[in-house]
Amino acid sequence: MRVFAAVALTASTLCAQAPATSAQGKVDFASDVLPFLESKCFSCHGEPKRDAKGKLKEPKGGLRLDGKDWILRGGDGEDAVVAGELEESGIYRRVALPEDDPDFMPSKGEHLTADERDTLKRWIEEGASFGSWTGAAVPKGAPKAASRPTIPKLQSPYHSLVQKLESSAPKLSPRAITKAAGDSAQITAIAPRSKLLRVEFRASEQQTDDKRLAKLKTVAGNVTQLNLARTAVTDKGLAALTKMPRLTRLDLHETGITDRGIQHLKRLRELRSLNLYGTDVTDEALATVAQLPSLETLYVWQTKITARGLAELEQRNPKLRVVSKPVWPAAPQVERDQGRRRRRR
Ligand code: HEC
Repeated sequence: MRVFAAVALTASTLCAQAPATSAQGKVDFASDVLPFLESKCFSCHGEPKRDAKGKLKEPKGGLRLDGKDWILRGGDGEDAVVAGELEESGIYRRVALPEDDPDFMPSKGEHLTADERDTLKRWIEEGASFGSWTGAAVPKGAPKAASRPTIPKLQSPYHSLVQKLESSAPKLSPRAITKAAGDSAQITAIAPRSKLLRVEFRASEQQTDDKRLAKLKTVAGNVTQLNLARTAVTDKGLAALTKMPRLTRLDLHETGITDRGIQHLKRLRELRSLNLYGTDVTDEALATVAQLPSLETLYVWQTKITARGLAELEQRNPKLRVVSKPVWPAAPQVERDQGRRRRRR
């Protein structure tokens, strides 16, 4: 069973986009994603083929990407696509790795461009809809995707966290969502019939201010992921987050937030990931950050936080993963043909 295989409430049903932004639209799988998968992945993740010697070459890693049902079935070791979950979606996770990582894809040949990576990311975030495209079908009676351990997967820490938050989350009414969405927030359920929501302001970042943020109050108890990157929210506005006890991911990158604003995060007991990249926060904010009991990942690249501050934080919270460098190395697109280690799993 794939728990996050689809998204119940899609952005388009909830968000009456202003005409000016509708040109950007949603990513369309067949026209925006398929072409680069085809040119850069199908050679190893397509139909089984006979090589020159007549030997049958199976798709690598048990993964075929040339049909919707093949993609949804995933490979031998991991899911290829889980709607809304970038880390769980193998085809994104692997292209987003540093290029020298043994898991990086494509393992040979032309890499995805930054634009293609971004399109793929948006497609997954928007719910990974294939539209009317189906591609190659999985024949009846084909063996199930290999030995993937389903049970441990369902008991992954993230899954049990979602179950816990789901069971305590307040009921959601469509009206509350419409009200909170207004004409600029994109609000999506994180899984079919889930009461937990992801909120973004893509394409309307600059108009997103404290007042706009405050309008989320009708769904505050349901918000688990909130992306305020590049918006105009201020320290004061972050007071709205004190009403969001189920927040697990918060992105504040390139906002005007300072240490004062961070203080409002003190009670976010479920917060797993906090992105402060490109803000003016200093070591002072780390005092609050250190108290967040569930925090796993902190992004601090291009802030005023010092190496010394980070060293102290690490002492207090050795398990925290701190990202203090750019995630994308601006590496040249070189052909690589190196011995590949098996994935560590
Ligand atoms: C030159 C061959 C080659 C190309 C091209 C290639 N891959 Fe792979 N891929 C492999 C091999 C070999 C494996 C199995 C080893 C491993 O898991 O790293 C694999 C495994 C994978 C897996 C994990 C499958 C599983 O469940 O274990 C994913 C996801 C993946 N590739 C995605 C992609 C994507 C997306 C592209 C295109 C951008 C791509 N690959 C292009 C060779 C390739």
